Amino acid sequence: METSRIPGFYNMTVEERLNLLKKIHSFSEEDVKNIQTSAPLTTDTADKMIENVIGTYQLPLGLGLNFLINGKDYVIPMVIEEPSVVASASHIARIVREAGGFTTKATERVMIGQIQVVGCADFQQAKETVQQNKEVLLEAANNAYPSIVSRGGGAEDLDVRILNEESTSAYSQMLVIHLYINTCDAMGANIINTMVESLAPLVEELTKGKVYLRILSNYADRCLAKAKCVIPPDLLKTGDYSGEEVRDGVIHAYEFAASDPYRAVTHNKGIMNGIDPVVIATGNDWRAVEAGAHAYASRNGTYDSMTIWSKDEYGNLVGELELPMSIGTVGGATRVHPMAKFALHILGVNSAKELSQVIVSVGLAQNLGALKALATEGIQKGHMALHSRSVAIAAGATGEMIDIIAEQLVKEKQIRVGKAKELVEEYKK
Ligand code: MEV
Repeated sequence: METSRIPGFYNMTVEERLNLLKKIHSFSEEDVKNIQTSAPLTTDTADKMIENVIGTYQLPLGLGLNFLINGKDYVIPMVIEEPSVVASASHIARIVREAGGFTTKATERVMIGQIQVVGCADFQQAKETVQQNKEVLLEAANNAYPSIVSRGGGAEDLDVRILNEESTSAYSQMLVIHLYINTCDAMGANIINTMVESLAPLVEELTKGKVYLRILSNYADRCLAKAKCVIPPDLLKTGDYSGEEVRDGVIHAYEFAASDPYRAVTHNKGIMNGIDPVVIATGNDWRAVEAGAHAYASRNGTYDSMTIWSKDEYGNLVGELELPMSIGTVGGATRVHPMAKFALHILGVNSAKELSQVIVSVGLAQNLGALKALATEGIQKGHMALHSRSVAIAAGATGEMIDIIAEQLVKEKQIRVGKAKELVEEYKK
């Protein structure tokens, strides 16, 4: 990927943007055609992906620009219906770029499969037997999915817990086995579920209990990605606000989220505004990422901010975001959905580990974008300017009329469909 810094991209027409991308990136004519027709997911393919298909459903695909992560440029495909998100991510990425870019890291991609065992006559004995047979169980799991072993992954470890041992209800007493599986570049749902399902008979034999659930855990706390940025205050100056004021406003906003779940939920929603669009664009399971992210935000017992914002000894604003990232670059829809394949191509990531680090960087940028706006002029100014375009379209504006009417709505501070309809009628006269 040559550069993610494309000045004035937002001011171009869609056609101009595509022509430019064709020149500076490895976009083929076919890529461009696919995007222009916007429907490379045929109903036939869709019919093979889910059940009861009657068509496909489209959302806008935009590009997050200016992202410099570990010294590498990324153009980031983002699929989202909400205005301002892509602009805000790109705006912050530009600031962070000037500060040296995001630095990121990721753990190995170890996912968890759970096996629930009930009705053991002696839970302690069952637990010990599972522990003693760890190697046998790991081997059996790997035999159930040998291709992941040949890719360098597979079941690596397991542990076992007894839940509700003191309970008087047999329903709540259980043994829970965690199988730790390195899924390499796959999100791994099929690998994990195949492995844990295959182990059930052996586990029943060993524990003398009955196996009920055999399923992955979306709380992927051994598959983490972390992004960090360090921004000198002079890069944060906004309108009449000094860089120090913006920095302090962001830290105050963080402390609010860190102290109050009502604020934390909205704060974290803003982070997912950046994360979900990339997860969706790349054909990944955004519900899995959402569930894992929110659980991770609660890992200390209360629902907390996913990010941490602080000031370092030089007065720089420091932001950090660490989240579980159960995504993949192979398998699932990533290689079936043509636009997901294309999104991975634009991103130029070589592994799921790399993709996960890009995703948390976008989440961190998105959070700063929201906090910076909220701590200064508020979000409505920028938001309404974009919203006014949708209102103009809803009122029947087309072509060049859209921007003219949108601007008028903002100027008159009346961003309503009724007002837009009046303006459309006037324009047509
Ligand atoms: C809107 O989609 C997201 C924000 O509410 C996030 C936040 O409040 O931090 C602006």
